[in-house]
Amino acid sequence: MIIDTHAHYDDEQFDGDREELLGSMEAGGVGLIVNAGSTLESWSRIVELTEKYPFLYGAIGIHPDEAGSLSEERMREMEELLDRDKIVAVGEIGLDYYWDKENHDIQKKWFIRQLETARKKDMPVIIHSREAAADTMEIMKTYAAGMRAVIHCYSYSPEMAKEYVKMGYYIGVGGVVTFKNAKKLKQVVEELPLESIVLETDCPYLAPEPFRGKRNSSLYLPYVAEKIAEIKGLSAEEVVRQTEENSRQLYRL
Ligand code: NI
Repeated sequence: MIIDTHAHYDDEQFDGDREELLGSMEAGGVGLIVNAGSTLESWSRIVELTEKYPFLYGAIGIHPDEAGSLSEERMREMEELLDRDKIVAVGEIGLDYYWDKENHDIQKKWFIRQLETARKKDMPVIIHSREAAADTMEIMKTYAAGMRAVIHCYSYSPEMAKEYVKMGYYIGVGGVVTFKNAKKLKQVVEELPLESIVLETDCPYLAPEPFRGKRNSSLYLPYVAEKIAEIKGLSAEEVVRQTEENSRQLYRL
């Protein structure tokens, strides 16, 4: 089965047809979905989704763009939610110097604080990192050694990907790998063992070709699996089978 390791079905872009869309996942070959947390408001919506859909699991965390909304009180709330059966990860957390919505010290402080919480709970982390390669690597080495993690929507060099793989982390690959201009990511996929790659959408964002620019959903993951298979000279079935195993290990599903 296909596992989507990173989706945002709590997003308002799904308000019009969420039930119909999520009802069509099984027929579309998508067996499990992990819905990543982003804002404070996303948390209760994610818990609701996990209660409604047996195949949907959740992650709770605060995106670096929203780091300033965290407080110790909110962290206590997060810890309670992390104890729920269907909440399987802390995320998405990290650093984003591209949008740069929060100052770097604030981003780092709450990134580290959320990593510490994940370690305490023995839970994996979903890492968001954009234009912040060196700081993310340094923080992961210092605070997340030995933990389970996925570097989601990976956008850096093949060398750095290999370093993360050596640390035992997974690399999240989504629609971007199908884009014509995605040379670097294609190289990453070519050079990494399939055992370290997981499939993800980041939907509603980053739809693969031929749907680039449209609303994304887990139903488009076969296009991502197909592209990874083409790059690595494997069958799409093999990519789906191995990434399912990887995703289950990552989240203990
Ligand atoms: Ni995301």
